Amino acid sequence: MDRENFTQKIKDGYTFKSDYITIGGAMIDNEPIADLFINIPLKTLNRHGLIAGATGTGKTKTIQVLSEQLSSKGIPVLMMDIKGDFSGIAQQGVKNAFIEERHAKMNLHFEPKAFPVELLTISKQNGVRLRATISEFGPVLLSRILDLNDTQSGVMSLIFKYCDDHQLPLLDLKDLKKVIQFITNEGKEDIEKEYGRVSTASTGAILRKLIELEQQDADLFFGETSFDIKDLMRIDENGKAFVNILRLNDIQDKPKLFSTFMLCLLAEVYNTMPEQGDSGQPELVIFIDEAHLIFKEASKALLDQIETIVKLIRSKGIGLYFITQNPTDVPDGVLAQLGLKIQHALRAFTDKDRKAIKLASENFPTTEFYKTNEIITQLGTGEALVTVLNEKGIPTPLAVCMMQAPMSRMDVLSPTEIDGLIQQSNLKNKYNNVVDRESAYEILNHKLTTEKPTETAIVKESKNSTAPKKKEESYFTKQVIKVLTSATFIRGAFGVLTKIFKK
Ligand SMILES: Nc1ncnc2c1ncn2[C@@H]1O[C@H](COP(=O)(O)OP(=O)(O)O)[C@@H](O)[C@H]1O
Ligand SMILES: [Mg+2]
Repeated sequence: MDRENFTQKIKDGYTFKSDYITIGGAMIDNEPIADLFINIPLKTLNRHGLIAGATGTGKTKTIQVLSEQLSSKGIPVLMMDIKGDFSGIAQQGVKNAFIEERHAKMNLHFEPKAFPVELLTISKQNGVRLRATISEFGPVLLSRILDLNDTQSGVMSLIFKYCDDHQLPLLDLKDLKKVIQFITNEGKEDIEKEYGRVSTASTGAILRKLIELEQQDADLFFGETSFDIKDLMRIDENGKAFVNILRLNDIQDKPKLFSTFMLCLLAEVYNTMPEQGDSGQPELVIFIDEAHLIFKEASKALLDQIETIVKLIRSKGIGLYFITQNPTDVPDGVLAQLGLKIQHALRAFTDKDRKAIKLASENFPTTEFYKTNEIITQLGTGEALVTVLNEKGIPTPLAVCMMQAPMSRMDVLSPTEIDGLIQQSNLKNKYNNVVDRESAYEILNHKLTTEKPTETAIVKESKNSTAPKKKEESYFTKQVIKVLTSATFIRGAFGVLTKIFKK
């Protein structure tokens, strides 16, 4: 084997003009070559990626290394931590003989470091609470998530229209359920006059599916205060970007809630972020561990929506990285859009395994230096086959990479350390107080128990009149308008998405 030729090709392939991060060193014949580093240009980090490999081969540590490097460059990270094994990044690691030897071979500096971490939650875990309102979801997305048929989706759109027309803010699941009950009972006559017949079979089906979602604890997620995506993009006093860890240990058996949440989050990020100019680095990198869970129970429609958003979100400077055991866990339409590939070892026990390995190797650039399909099964822990996109967007030569060791702690934080971290959080007070202000549920209850005009009527008047606005808008009015406009905006954006997708 021509070592010089290999060294030259890797050096040429992984040298970039603009800024980059280093993930490890190139290996040949099972040994790293000193000073031959595998780099990723910051510029193409928004071109998404895949990190795959069997259990225990080093995927999580690879994300830890990537996150550390990104944080150091001031690029914020959001990590979907499903196994709960990522919190150690908040504390510095320890040098040991194994790590020193590893780094000495590559001639890569190792220095224990801690990184700024924010712990977030959407479920029963302790942490800063991420929430979104039903309005923000909009009828299209909600229908996709609930897997509604066309008729039922039509009814969902009607419900949103009715709530818009009648100033009924839809914040949580309670609101939505109340509105559905109302339009099938007390409000039925009025609604049919205004909007035409609403089939009770459809409303019944929607209600059942909402309850199913509720049983996965989705009520913890829907409501206020809805999370401001900008809060994910904070930089600490030392210029390091925050690594936001979303603790999802209890979501493994709730794939529907997880895909709902992921899609909502991506839609929200898409809607919030401006088109990115040529800043040369991503605004945010999102790692999705156990990514097969998002795809597992997703309907065709939901998968299409995910595929579309993956395609579009790039232009907003967001990089998405899917982590899963096998590349075949990711649908082809998504896989085709992933520029970076870090493939840890796969096991070849069954015929199915061998097929997956064959497929994985065929998705890599051809190489004269490795027998790709053989090497995939022979990689050591913390080693991976890597190809990234260079600054021109062309795949770099395939390289076996010895990943550097995380500079932060490889083990998880203790419960006391976790509590300490949450106590320190600057976001905790903003998001963790329960808000349940007057919304559809309360307004309809009020309407049913009294005939007096409610505040709702006032809102309607002030919004519809062409005369100058009343001097004193109540807090309530302002809030309603805020919710309604943001919802309309997001739904508008989704309309665009749907159109783009249909083309
Ligand atoms: N880059 C690395 N540097 C040092 N040790 C590593 C590295 N990657 C993996 N390891 C070792 O392998 C173990 C398993 O890695 P992990 O990332 O948890 O695997 P996976 O997420 O694929 O199940 C780690 O606990 C660590 O001891
Ligand atoms: Mg892991």
